[in-house]
Amino acid sequence: MPDWKLPITTPRLVLRDFVEEDWRSVHEYGSDPEVVRFMPWGPNTEEDTRAFVARALSARQEKPRRTFELAVTLGESGGLIGGCGIRVSRPTDLGADMGYCLRRDCWGRGYGTELSLAIVGFGFEELGLHRIIATCDPDNVASVRVLEKTGMKREATLREDSRIRGVWRDSYLYAILESEWTPSRGDA
Ligand SMILES: CC(C)(COP(=O)(O)OP(=O)(O)OC[C@H]1O[C@@H](n2cnc3c(N)ncnc32)[C@H](O)[C@@H]1OP(=O)(O)O)[C@@H](O)C(=O)NCCC(=O)NCCS
Repeated sequence: MPDWKLPITTPRLVLRDFVEEDWRSVHEYGSDPEVVRFMPWGPNTEEDTRAFVARALSARQEKPRRTFELAVTLGESGGLIGGCGIRVSRPTDLGADMGYCLRRDCWGRGYGTELSLAIVGFGFEELGLHRIIATCDPDNVASVRVLEKTGMKREATLREDSRIRGVWRDSYLYAILESEWTPSRGDA
């Protein structure tokens, strides 16, 4: 495995490891019911958010490292606007899953697509992965669009595979193979 090249920089964003003090910024979006509408977690209490950041920090100690929970920050100001992650869930098969989440006031500016392309590029070009998957609620139209613009293909509808605040929900399964990835996409 190559060295992990972090932070990941894109034209407008820097994706970096969390630090403990990030918890307040994380809590701003983690406690927003609209942001977590399609997530199996949240809205977070302060304790939930602190625990999430603590888990992200301890995951950095894994050897080899398999979980990359990263803060999404604005390149210029450095402000934290969200989180994203890629986890090598099937190391033998070089398979990973990824996800992302942004503050509500930062939606609709192309940041979701920009970070998704960067995370997938990191997975293939830095982690040497073969296949990256993501799941998404069928009603989460913005995320469906982000995954499709990332070049991922919808492979299945997983019936009632997630329970969101007591309600069973279907998920779309999206995936992209290394052979389908064009390195220059990450610069888009
Ligand atoms: C999903 C999410 C990251 C998208 O981020 P974003 O920065 O708003 O996405 P982008 O600006 O890159 O937009 C991507 C596409 O979705 C479209 N889109 C964005 N919001 C939309 C909405 N509410 N309805 C329909 N389309 C929408 C955009 O128009 C764009 O498509 P286009 O280029 O064809 O016009 C953001 O909405 C979010 O953080 N949601 C809450 C957390 C979440 O659901 N995470 C995903 C879990 S699977």
